[in-house]
Amino acid sequence: MERTRGERWEWTRERYLGGVFSHGTASERRRLRLLESVLDGHTRARFTALGLAPDDAVLEVGGGGGSVARWLAGQGARVTATDLDTRFLEELSDEGVRVLRHDLYTEDFPPGSFDFVHARYVVIHLPDPDKAVARLASWLRPGGTLLIEEPASFPVMDSPHPAYRTVMRAFRTHLERTVGTDTGWARTLPVPLERAGLVGVGLDARIQPVNGGDDEAEWWRLNLEQSREAMVAAGLAADADFAAAYRELASPDFRDLSLAVLTAWGRRAEG
Ligand SMILES: C[S@@+](CC[C@H](N)C(=O)[O-])C[C@H]1O[C@@H](n2cnc3c(N)ncnc32)[C@H](O)[C@@H]1O
Repeated sequence: MERTRGERWEWTRERYLGGVFSHGTASERRRLRLLESVLDGHTRARFTALGLAPDDAVLEVGGGGGSVARWLAGQGARVTATDLDTRFLEELSDEGVRVLRHDLYTEDFPPGSFDFVHARYVVIHLPDPDKAVARLASWLRPGGTLLIEEPASFPVMDSPHPAYRTVMRAFRTHLERTVGTDTGWARTLPVPLERAGLVGVGLDARIQPVNGGDDEAEWWRLNLEQSREAMVAAGLAADADFAAAYRELASPDFRDLSLAVLTAWGRRAEG
């Protein structure tokens, strides 16, 4: 089956940072913290299961709010944390993390630099996610491990909650049109890792629950609120739809599913 989608548009840093996910938006740090609170337990368990060892050289790409890089450094790893905008990572320099402003899609590291390379909720925003995976794999030393965690939006698209469903469909379209995000790509995992020549490839797939008032619900409210004006202006949804969705997301009775989270890993073959 043909799964490589290829370069769909020209990538610039501003595609990601210029709008909905700007790190200068007042609520962006909190949005990233909520994401970390929902995902970090799974990420740590996976690193541990994959044999993270003290002194490993680990690259954390698109480090965002920095909790994964901080935890890795606390495990004794030698951590390089990158992002297009490093303002939330800078404080980690004091904890021994090498912080770099670096674009994984256009800038390189020497081949064979790292024991682990990790990306979470980053690759789907790039024009050719398969190419991004191949780039990340090339920075592994022989025997090193690539760990990718990316979301897919299909579980939210047919939610039984009408307002949640409406704004989620609108948000998917908005992300496709503005950032360029492919919210379906992650379900092609782990094929892109196999294509990149990795061995011992594995996949874990789960669906994140969302309950009224929990961190996942608040994360969604911030995602939506950061783009509400632009989505209304584009005719994708009305203010009344957002107000109704926020009521659903805050209600103690609200129980639904959020994103599918696909976690894939594989090793670069030894010599
Ligand atoms: C949704 S956030 C996820 C942050 C973090 N990985 C986490 O899961 O908590 C995506 C992050 O990737 C960064 N990013 C997006 N495209 C990037 C690129 N081409 N190179 C490096 N970082 C990138 C963004 O600036 C943002 O901080």
